[in-house]
Amino acid sequence: MGLAPANLRSRRLVLRPMHEKDVAFTAAVLGDLEVSRRLARVPHPYTEADARAWLTEVERLRQEAVLDHFMIDLADGQAVGAIGLHAEGPDATDAEVGYWIAPAHWNKGYAREALGAVVRHAFEVRTPRLAVMHARAQRANPASIRVLLACGFTEEHDTVCHSAATGVDEPALHFTLRRA
Ligand SMILES: CC(C)(COP(=O)(O)OP(=O)(O)OC[C@H]1O[C@@H](n2cnc3c(N)ncnc32)[C@H](O)[C@@H]1OP(=O)(O)O)[C@@H](O)C(=O)NCCC(=O)NCCS
Repeated sequence: MGLAPANLRSRRLVLRPMHEKDVAFTAAVLGDLEVSRRLARVPHPYTEADARAWLTEVERLRQEAVLDHFMIDLADGQAVGAIGLHAEGPDATDAEVGYWIAPAHWNKGYAREALGAVVRHAFEVRTPRLAVMHARAQRANPASIRVLLACGFTEEHDTVCHSAATGVDEPALHFTLRRA
């Protein structure tokens, strides 16, 4: 059984499923090395064909109950980013969260607000409820570390994040958040 598509709302944001109309926006933002270098699986260069393949993958993984993926919109429908929960572990009640915001919208609190909405969804609404959320942030990514700490995540241990965009193994921190 797949994960049910969900729309989440927070004070300024709407989190909703990805559609074909998001391909150009996704390719433009993930094509920016300043974004992709901080992510694990996004190659560089990144094209609309890559984003379209990702849209197909998002739907496949939702049907396999592996990925909850949301585009992040402002109230007027303008997309500003994306956030996803990738389930792992034997009973799929652990998940790793990943997110990105378009650089034009950085430092407005959108990542923090979107992650807060996803945390509430994951622990209180989603079927099955998650027990633990994980995140990995490169040490060179203070903005993401700040977002995670603001949402209640705890730093657990050092790790390494391979960046597909740069080919570099980046020193990183592993964070967790457990359901209360
Ligand atoms: C990380 C990212 C999602 C943050 O998005 P955002 O919407 O700008 O985040 P927010 O505005 O919610 O919060 C950013 C926080 O970091 C702080 N910050 C930003 N740049 C910083 C820096 N260089 N040093 C220290 N803090 C910094 C901001 O002041 C803010 O903290 P505050 O709310 O306490 O003032 C965005 O930079 C991004 O998409 N980066 C590329 C992809 C990525 O890194 N994804 C996460 C992978 S783990």
